[in-house]
Amino acid sequence: MDVYKLLHEDHRKVKSLLKELEDTTERAGKTREHLIRQVEMELEIHSEAEEKFFYPYLQTAKETKDLAYEALEEHKVVKSLLQELIAEAKGTAEWTAKCSVLIENVEHHIEEEEGELFPKARKVLSKEEAESIGEEIEDYKEQHTGVGAG
Ligand SMILES: [Fe+2]
Ligand SMILES: [Fe+2]
Repeated sequence: MDVYKLLHEDHRKVKSLLKELEDTTERAGKTREHLIRQVEMELEIHSEAEEKFFYPYLQTAKETKDLAYEALEEHKVVKSLLQELIAEAKGTAEWTAKCSVLIENVEHHIEEEEGELFPKARKVLSKEEAESIGEEIEDYKEQHTGVGAG
């Protein structure tokens, strides 16, 4: 599977988890706990894979350099929000607000990747490269989660 399709599937999965999270209330602490950990697991492996196998190509090409560096910084922001959300009590208005910020950040990041970075990456990477990066990411995900990406 090429890298764009593979990453897009991850994005869909994360977006659907975030939608579930968005629908929870302050009384649903256990559900929030469970969902936020799932989001963290999905995003950790996804971001690591992008940073290891995909962004490096884009950080060296003129057309994609700025966007790729911006994406990397966005990963850091999301990661730090996730750590706070995991550590903090789930039944507060503060947690709800922080979770909304996380959702906005992740959705923005995904839109930027799919809407701007991927189209430009298609000009930088050959079809063969996009396939082989996709395979590397699939292997990486299998090794780190024990679940094939399909
Ligand atoms: Fe992504
Ligand atoms: Fe990303």
